[in-house]
Amino acid sequence: MEKKIIAVASSNANKIREMSEILTEYSFVPMKDLGFDEDIAEDGKSFRENAYIKASTVAKALGVPALADDSGLCVDALGGAPGIYSSRYSGGGNAENRALLLKNMEGEEDRSAHFCCCVCLCGPDGSAVYGEGKTYGKILCAEEGSGGFGYDPLFFSDDLGKSFGVASAEEKNAVSHRARALNDLKSKI
Ligand code: IMP
Repeated sequence: MEKKIIAVASSNANKIREMSEILTEYSFVPMKDLGFDEDIAEDGKSFRENAYIKASTVAKALGVPALADDSGLCVDALGGAPGIYSSRYSGGGNAENRALLLKNMEGEEDRSAHFCCCVCLCGPDGSAVYGEGKTYGKILCAEEGSGGFGYDPLFFSDDLGKSFGVASAEEKNAVSHRARALNDLKSKI
């Protein structure tokens, strides 16, 4: 059977790969392959607001339904930081973000944290359906593994009993914030 195509309001190849692994019945097409290649200002105050900004911008521009994921790592000892600023935490890339997180967590006993994800499926008319998911764990004192992306090597998953950096894609997708958010969305559409 032909897979239903969904435009994705993201240029993050890792997110799009995980979406395709999690909801295998859909074909996720990056926005730039459909002709939208602009930066979208993520100036919302929550994962939900940012997911809507991204999905609605692309859906309105392309005239088709679009899916966006806004996600991040929330660390209790840091008051929920980096949160919605996870991708921009250090001003550098993923390695610099992880290095800054390790530095800011030096000597910290409470290492509890969770990943948060809000996905938004938006129509060209601005109508929106949301899915939300969280996954809980601890910030490690050093990187473990090199799998996944972003903060994965520093995140010890309570569900898996190992870091997302050493987990297989299947293991991560069984418990991840993104899988939970996408399945929540799927139950509503
Ligand atoms: P966004 O593109 O503004 O939603 O930023 C998402 C950022 O949160 C990513 O760039 C990563 O730094 C972090 N992040 C979100 N999901 C994950 C994940 O599954 N693993 C590791 N880091 C993640």
